[in-house]
Amino acid sequence: MDEKEVFVEYYGSAKKREELAWHHKDPVGFLPKIVEQAEKPGKALDMGCGTGVDSVFLASKGWEVTSLDFMTEAIQMTKERAEENNVSLNAVQADIIDWQCDEKFDLLVDAGLMHNMRRERILTYRDKISHLLKPGGHFMLAHWESMNDDDRLNAGPRRSTRSQIEKHFSGTFDSLTEFDRKQVQTCQLCSGYVCERNKEPACSEVGPQLSIGFYWFTK
Ligand SMILES: C[S@@+](CC[C@H](N)C(=O)[O-])C[C@H]1O[C@@H](n2cnc3c(N)ncnc32)[C@H](O)[C@@H]1O
Repeated sequence: MDEKEVFVEYYGSAKKREELAWHHKDPVGFLPKIVEQAEKPGKALDMGCGTGVDSVFLASKGWEVTSLDFMTEAIQMTKERAEENNVSLNAVQADIIDWQCDEKFDLLVDAGLMHNMRRERILTYRDKISHLLKPGGHFMLAHWESMNDDDRLNAGPRRSTRSQIEKHFSGTFDSLTEFDRKQVQTCQLCSGYVCERNKEPACSEVGPQLSIGFYWFTK
């Protein structure tokens, strides 16, 4: 399935933003920590902003935010969320690879974009974001992780190990400042001990459990 088609399906079947599979209320991963340790608010780019949770969090902390997504629904939901929270942000509908931008940012956020990207675009994406980030800037990535052989199902985003991600970005960003992971149980039937993939929809799609890796890179 094409990269964008997946999201056409998701946004098309969600009646409200809370029904989207990646719905979350709190800012992702290290974002609160990055904001806290910054001397002052800077310019942030939320790549694949979705419904705008992280964009609105950053804007509420005084950051100048650009929220980018290639889906019309995502841009609409982000604008609505910003309005509800009385914050302003710059919402841009574009594919990150094709987006023409002369600005540089202090912070780039990718929570769930890269792990859905087609392999042949990954290197271009890495070069693009390296170009968009100021020296000394931060890149916060949330990416599904490989845990064991059982998580290598065909559906869902790509899983990568921490060392694969580190290797991919070595030479692009100077250091991995912090790493963390969160494990999520998608199947309530067997705790992943005996996989009952055919009985639980989430299980048959993405496996009985998944792990999300959070990466904080500094350039
Ligand atoms: C898994 S969702 C996560 C949304 C949001 N970051 C969050 O954590 O709630 C990924 C989002 O990235 C967007 N997206 C995926 N690939 C993209 C691309 N190449 N350019 C722009 N947006 C993209 C999708 O439309 C979707 O809204």
